[in-house]
Amino acid sequence: MERALLISQEKIQGRVKEIAAQISSDYEGEDVVLIGVLNGAVFFLADLAREITIPVRIDFMRAASYGSRQTSSGKVQLTKDVEIPLRDRSVILVEDIVDTGLTLSHIIEDLKGKGPRSLKTCVLIDKLERRETHVSIDYCGFRVEEGFLVGYGLDFDEQYRNLPDIHVLK
Ligand code: IMP
Ligand code: MG
Repeated sequence: MERALLISQEKIQGRVKEIAAQISSDYEGEDVVLIGVLNGAVFFLADLAREITIPVRIDFMRAASYGSRQTSSGKVQLTKDVEIPLRDRSVILVEDIVDTGLTLSHIIEDLKGKGPRSLKTCVLIDKLERRETHVSIDYCGFRVEEGFLVGYGLDFDEQYRNLPDIHVLK
């Protein structure tokens, strides 16, 4: 499939460092739990965590949404839960991309029920064109208007996740 470079590895890594510095300063003197949404957030979370200078714990959850391949249908099911207790912890939910917002808002509601002290969201790509529900994004890597993106964790049919740059599929 044809693709065009959208965000270079260098730009991604620069932005990841900035976000990590912001988180390290916002949570100074505390420790945080980073929760990655599988599979897409794995690369972002791994790079982010290594740039954060305060103590972090790491856990993952997984959500499945059913529908056509390039859009989510709105039916979100959590298929893997976190394993670290979140009660009274400072939690940052780490996601690769927010499109309609349905996946993230579903996960946020679920995590709120676990009684964290605080819950923030950190998203690499905020993609605006198809937003259906408001989600609050506390840390955002890049804002993109439209297009289907692959690379740096983002997939099309499970392909391209390992590309170091982010590309738009044509
Ligand atoms: P939402 O529920 O519509 O916000 O969709 C979130 C999920 O859809 C993301 O976690 C991705 O797995 C997938 N997704 C949405 N847009 C893209 C894209 O441009 N490239 C790759 N995956 C995407
Ligand atoms: Mg995802």
